[in-house]
Amino acid sequence: MAKYKIALMPGDGIGNDVMDAAKIVLEKLALDAEYVNADIGWEFWRTEGEALPQRTIDLLKGCTCALFGAITSKPKEEAEAELIPELQGKGLVYRSPIVRLRQTFDLYSNLRPCKAYQGNPLNYRDDIDIVIFRENTEDLYAGVEFHPLPAEVRAALEAHSKGMAAFKNVASEDIALSARILTRRGCRRIVRAAFEYAQKHGYPTVTLVEKPNVIRETSGLMVREARKIAAEYPGIALWETNIDAQAMWLIKNPQDYGVMVSSNMFGDIISDLAAQLVGGLGFASSGNIGETFAVFEPTHGSAPKYAGQHKVNPMAMLLTVKLMCDWLGETAKAQALEVAIAAVIAEGQVRTYDMGGSATSLDVARAVAERL
Ligand code: NAI
Ligand code: MG
Repeated sequence: MAKYKIALMPGDGIGNDVMDAAKIVLEKLALDAEYVNADIGWEFWRTEGEALPQRTIDLLKGCTCALFGAITSKPKEEAEAELIPELQGKGLVYRSPIVRLRQTFDLYSNLRPCKAYQGNPLNYRDDIDIVIFRENTEDLYAGVEFHPLPAEVRAALEAHSKGMAAFKNVASEDIALSARILTRRGCRRIVRAAFEYAQKHGYPTVTLVEKPNVIRETSGLMVREARKIAAEYPGIALWETNIDAQAMWLIKNPQDYGVMVSSNMFGDIISDLAAQLVGGLGFASSGNIGETFAVFEPTHGSAPKYAGQHKVNPMAMLLTVKLMCDWLGETAKAQALEVAIAAVIAEGQVRTYDMGGSATSLDVARAVAERL
């Protein structure tokens, strides 16, 4: 029996293209792994009314980890209109399968490295090495949302918060509410993940990005818990910043930052910003990591206009494979893969369109595999 069982979930659009590229590199890496395909994405929504079928969840429960490509998501009405006729009018509601995977498997830590590789013409600067830890299960993504505002919820809010007075004259039909929910446990474990990573990889600082001066309770809880955890890591400084100023500082002095940690929404925002500093979506890798299971994915979407052309940059996916090797404890293979990726970028002979070249996704994967 193989040491690992790894689920491959290409999903939609260019998810398939970059998964084809990943397979070239995985074959050369020769992990002691059995690979199994798992269904996820738009096709399964259309034909089964479920983008993340139960059989996929069951299969994942027997896997070591999963590698995911990308999925297509569409707004509510559009999603329903694309269902096969037999499934229309049944009240099926589309839910993002990747958000569900994160919640179902409690993959609370979203690891998003943004590193500038030498010779990448898309680098904003060449000395950027940022690793973002984004909380992945709470905050505005918890799905606790109302529109219109139910009478009981309104009454409770009015009884408990003076802030509601400002909305006294607004009808409940005209109020939408999305709850920002952070828990002490959620704050503690994402901050700890960031500090552990900083310690293991020798980063001198962890920057906590919140907004406690305005969002006093949720951001406040995060800051208070972070200070307690930071005290357990005397060699690593905790820097506290506000999300708005941090967006500015990331453009001004990105080289000053190392490990960064934030809640779900702010973490999402700064990680897209940071990704663009090191070449954009074609270079942005990520891992959704829990205590015993993880799903690795490039952060880009399904880019339908490029689907099936093997045109997009597979580096985000190949760097994602590197993260997966790290998580598996295959450190030597992870390092070799990163060295090979860095060499292909530095040599500049095999580049996809976004880097000014005309190579295909598969050409790039082959060039990386050759250097392994
Ligand atoms: P997208 O990430 O799919 O593409 C935006 C643009 O970025 C593309 O048109 C392309 O110009 C560029 N791009 C993306 N990946 C690239 C790569 N590997 N190499 C070179 N260029 C690349 O985002 P968009 O267009 O907003 O969304 C398309 C679909 O993907 C939507 O249905 C959306 O819901 C879904 N999506 C899925 C995600 C996921 O699977 N985790 C994440 C983001 C969007
Ligand atoms: Mg995002």
